[in-house]
Amino acid sequence: MAVIPAGPESFLINTIFEYKIMPPYNSALEDIKSRLDIVDIVSEYVALKKAGQNYKGLCPFHTEKTPSFMVSPSKQIFHCFGCGSGGDIFTFLTRHENLSFNEAAIILAKKAGVTLKKSPHDAARAGEKETLINLNKDALACFQKSHSHSPEAASYLKKRGISVEMQKSFSIGYAPGRKDALFSFLKGKGYTAELIKKAGLVHYGSSGNYDTFRHRIMFPIFDLRGEVIAFGGRVLSQHDEPKYLNSPETPVFNKGRVLYGLNLAKEFIKKSGHAIFTEGYFDVIAAHMYGLSSAVAPLGTALTQEHGKLIKRFTEDAILVFDGDEAGVRAAKSAAGILLESGLNVKVLPLPRGEDPDSFLRKNGKEAFNALLENPVSVVEFFLMQKADKHLTANEALEVISKVPDSIRQGHYIKLLSEGIGINEMFVREELKKIKASQLKGAHRQAPGMKPLAKQGPSHEVYLLRLLLNYPEKAERIFESVLMEDLEHPVIRSVFKRMKEGMMDYDVLFSECLDDEKNLITELSFRADFDDAEKALGDCLNRFKKERRQRLLNEIQDKVKKAESKKDARLLRALQIEQQKLLGLKGH
Ligand code: UTP
Ligand code: MN
Repeated sequence: MAVIPAGPESFLINTIFEYKIMPPYNSALEDIKSRLDIVDIVSEYVALKKAGQNYKGLCPFHTEKTPSFMVSPSKQIFHCFGCGSGGDIFTFLTRHENLSFNEAAIILAKKAGVTLKKSPHDAARAGEKETLINLNKDALACFQKSHSHSPEAASYLKKRGISVEMQKSFSIGYAPGRKDALFSFLKGKGYTAELIKKAGLVHYGSSGNYDTFRHRIMFPIFDLRGEVIAFGGRVLSQHDEPKYLNSPETPVFNKGRVLYGLNLAKEFIKKSGHAIFTEGYFDVIAAHMYGLSSAVAPLGTALTQEHGKLIKRFTEDAILVFDGDEAGVRAAKSAAGILLESGLNVKVLPLPRGEDPDSFLRKNGKEAFNALLENPVSVVEFFLMQKADKHLTANEALEVISKVPDSIRQGHYIKLLSEGIGINEMFVREELKKIKASQLKGAHRQAPGMKPLAKQGPSHEVYLLRLLLNYPEKAERIFESVLMEDLEHPVIRSVFKRMKEGMMDYDVLFSECLDDEKNLITELSFRADFDDAEKALGDCLNRFKKERRQRLLNEIQDKVKKAESKKDARLLRALQIEQQKLLGLKGH
């Protein structure tokens, strides 16, 4: 574990490129939707089971034990009845991957084999991410070629015990020591100096362009789709500095969201049921070499909740195998807190002092490592194992436990802690309460979950929208008898407005709707059909009539009060006549 020097700022990260997709009338979007099946798309992230006409699974947008996340193949939508989140394939991808609508559309278009048209204005920026990825791909080819010509690189990797097979599967390369070997290669390929700089592969020095990575073993960093998005480079000689250098953050590289090795590990993580978190490149490669293919590592930065969520797509269980030194223990403690908070189950494999997974495996072999894996220690045990002040450690552990979102799991840790320190559980819970209270005060944190939207609306308004969505042939009658101001619920009102203004086609409506509106529409779409829609409509419209009359009566009543206090006899009489008229309407 080493302290990482700060890299160039991440000012590029928010450079978003825009494809001009004009919802709702762009036929490309309809094309994409018609060629893809939401069940397939969602299944890439969520284990779905058939439930009647629909599919069911654990919601990826909040923590839950029993599935309330539904996918409808006939309507091509999803909705979670736990947290209220709902939408179509575009919504799913934007929320799950934290993408803009355009970014999600690009990915889905690729999947569907549909070509999206770019507006000329945005064309240049549109391709930037793609160009950066192509540039990285070319850079990787260059590093691999240099590797095959460098006896020094070969002998270093041999000395580190990395088999040729592993070198291939991790696409390890070599950056030669020349001032600008990569830069000239990439220029030759037609990339501009500006773009090469943007990719973090070159910087300007006193005498021109310098390659960022010189005389280093190169580890390409891949995203989950297998695209090269960045590099890490290690010096070959003990005397060079810094030991590791990573690409700066770029429009395609966000350190907090990438784990080294995950592209290779993901399938194995699913199969083995756990992910092994290590600290370094060599740890990951050694682990994979010894058959522990579920190993990943952050890129010289602290773990983030995003990392946790990334892993949660594949498993619930994380095992931390950090360096056996003080820095490693510190890092493991903080990583444990973060991963617990993102809803993972966390265990730790403490290594002997001075060892990291790489050195441990080489010295003791796979069997010894597997023996450790048989008995990982719980987070609580790990904290208590540290030779420190018992009281302080307990508090530290409690701080971490307080972040566990699942209360059953939290209860389990509390029990472990109270047993571990030999203090009655009640006192531990008391302490936990204090910690939680101070956290709330500090951060004003809100529970992420939302209430189902429809439950917040008056039932007749919810009925009306359901009728409108499911029986478009009744729309005209509805619009004749119900006015915008009859609707109290803001989200129901805004969807109603869109439909009234002509957006009756489900897909068109959907692509125009805001998140809240989508959540509501999908929620209602999963409700069963009406037994007798005609009767339901009649009842519903009657209720609206009644509500409206009541509203008018209330308004008049208010005016009557005012008129009385002002002693305005004429106004009072006029109001009374109006009141009578309204009451006379009763029953009609
Ligand atoms: P370590 O110093 O533990 O290195 O850093 P290591 O992985 O054991 O490497 P070897 O075995 O000495 O070659 C752990 C991780 O921290 C990041 C790297 O990602 C490294 O793999 N790091 C380390 C940096 O980013 N910069 C540095 O200067 C050092
Ligand atoms: Mn190490």
